[in-house]
Amino acid sequence: MLRQASSAIETVDSDVVKLAKDMFETMYAAPGIGLAAVQVGVPRQMLVLDVADDDETPRPITMINPKILETSDTLRTHEEGCLSIPDFKLDVSRPDWVRVSYLDLEGKSQELRTDGLLATAVQHEIDHLNGKLIIDFLSRLKRDIVIRRFKKQARDATS
Ligand code: NI
Repeated sequence: MLRQASSAIETVDSDVVKLAKDMFETMYAAPGIGLAAVQVGVPRQMLVLDVADDDETPRPITMINPKILETSDTLRTHEEGCLSIPDFKLDVSRPDWVRVSYLDLEGKSQELRTDGLLATAVQHEIDHLNGKLIIDFLSRLKRDIVIRRFKKQARDATS
């Protein structure tokens, strides 16, 4: 399922609000700084983010049908993990800042221009909506090694 493209959300209704609430719970429990709906088995275009540190006031952001409008030419490299790929981290270079449009939980159009960790997290989560994972930044050979290890872990967990 993680490889499929998520479909757009047509109406921001109470089911969507409920899903966002569940996603925040899952993300904070993990703990993680971002989560896409497809990661909880719902292939719809929604993601939640919160890059605040533990000792800061939470800064939850929900993005519905997010679209990247503009990105910087300059890159930022960050060691990324993914809640769907346990025990795996990878240095990924992405545009340093992005400008994104999306709908909020009230169905209103919003636009955000952000940099730093939030820019990295937004791009990571939008990749999920397109079926893309951080292992896709690896060479074919290294990716196959990770996938083999991952499949073995899944087999061992169920046997
Ligand atoms: Ni991820």
